[in-house]
Amino acid sequence: MYDVYHEFEPTGRFFRYLKALPVGAPCLNCHGEAIKPEVAAALREHYPADRATGYREGQIRGAVSIKRPLF
Ligand code: HEC
Repeated sequence: MYDVYHEFEPTGRFFRYLKALPVGAPCLNCHGEAIKPEVAAALREHYPADRATGYREGQIRGAVSIKRPLF
């Protein structure tokens, strides 16, 4: 269901893996547009630099990227 890509680099020396991190419904509790006041207060207290709000379901939040040598 989530987009995943992997490949062996043409050099044959590395394996690479990339998995998208889409915003699902549970993520909206903290990253959405309408965050409950008590959650917003906790975010302000513990993560004052957090700017990762205002997202909608289905948007891409980031990706997991792994690159490993093959030996
Ligand atoms: C309980 C609240 C909460 C929920 C639910 C939550 N997050 Fe987060 N998320 C945070 C906080 C707070 C940070 C910032 C952490 C820090 O600054 O160390 C964060 C950071 C992140 C980051 C990395 C930092 C950035 O802003 O780029 C990503 C990516 C992320 N969240 C994605 C998700 C996704 C995808 C979901 C749902 C599957 C999700 N989060 C659900 C609270 C939450």
